Amino acid sequence: MPPTTNRRVLLRSRPVGEPKPSDFEIVDVPAPAPCDGEVLCRTIYLSLDPYMRGRMSDRKSYTPSVEIGQPMVGGTVSEVIDSRHPGFEAGDFVLGYGGWQSHHIARAGASPGPFGPLKLDPRAAPISTALGVLGMPGMTAYVGLLDLGQPKSGETVVVSAAAGAVGSIVGQLAKIKGCRAVGVAGSQAKCDYVVKELGFDACVSYRSPDLFAVLRDACPKGIDVYFDNVGGDVFNAVLRLVNPFARIPICGLISQYNATDMPPGPNLAPVLFNRLTLRGFIVSDHVDRMPAFLADTAGWLREGRLKYREDVVEGLDQAPRAFIGLLRGENLGKMLVRVGPDPTRA
Ligand SMILES: NC(=O)c1ccc[n+]([C@@H]2O[C@H](COP(=O)([O-])OP(=O)(O)OC[C@H]3O[C@@H](n4cnc5c(N)ncnc54)[C@H](OP(=O)(O)O)[C@@H]3O)[C@@H](O)[C@H]2O)c1
Repeated sequence: MPPTTNRRVLLRSRPVGEPKPSDFEIVDVPAPAPCDGEVLCRTIYLSLDPYMRGRMSDRKSYTPSVEIGQPMVGGTVSEVIDSRHPGFEAGDFVLGYGGWQSHHIARAGASPGPFGPLKLDPRAAPISTALGVLGMPGMTAYVGLLDLGQPKSGETVVVSAAAGAVGSIVGQLAKIKGCRAVGVAGSQAKCDYVVKELGFDACVSYRSPDLFAVLRDACPKGIDVYFDNVGGDVFNAVLRLVNPFARIPICGLISQYNATDMPPGPNLAPVLFNRLTLRGFIVSDHVDRMPAFLADTAGWLREGRLKYREDVVEGLDQAPRAFIGLLRGENLGKMLVRVGPDPTRA
């Protein structure tokens, strides 16, 4: 039976500061029908990611904002339920960019982003991992740390938002490369998780009264690579501890995504004195690294050298609250919404 309705979460207003539930609107519209060359997809998992906060504002960025009244954008893992494309059939699982809705139309070969639509093999890995450890966040960790951070055995790698989707992989890759991995996270529970379960060497809370002192104790040989997910105070503390020629891949600035004014910048004197390399990067510029990323990461997962966690909330209607929680740090691991049943999990 084809679906009759499509549930969507629209952007109702541009948030000022932290997003509120009233910035979103949940509506039911008639379900779309595929034309030739298209497939109709039922969303199973929706990825919630910090970059979506930028899409809600009309500030200039590297991609366009969501228009008011339009569905929020986002990566999805879906089941094909009707296909008018010879390459897909009902029952296939696909990675795409369906957005915050229960159904969407995908056009194979005309994908809106570099990550979809792509057929997934549920026997190779749980399909949800295509949005996390084997998807965009995992590849961000891989490219940012290995290509830009260039970690060498014996060096110290620090990563912020260490218990999250990207950071949890960065620290484990640092260990695989023979480095000392030090996390920075928002709570003792998250620090315990990354040290005891993921094998980081140390982790400090950025809520410590003296962040510089605890970070200095955790990095007795200084810092050679800082994978920055947050900017702000953590970046400032790290800069005082960097070694000459350290590399700093600038991945994200989540501490300022809800800011209404730009915070004052860090003191960049250590950048000069230590001849640092700071490099901002957007993972979608590095699609050529996808085959190596998938081969390496799938291998490390099989060997048990890489672990991951997913924080799954149930139901599309919960997406706004879960997204607000993600920006507050309430997630542990990759934040996902289960929009519909996952037939690959009993
Ligand atoms: N450059 C790229 O192409 C690219 C691609 C993907 C992601 N990113 C960036 O990577 C970062 C992590 O993304 P993710 O998907 O892995 O999310 P995530 O880490 O799973 O979730 C976000 C985490 O950020 C932390 N956080 C929130 N506010 C903070 C603050 N004021 N100061 C410090 N930490 C704060 C929270 O953890 P705590 O409890 O520890 O505070 C929260 O759990 C984000 O900045 C994102 O924009 C960039």
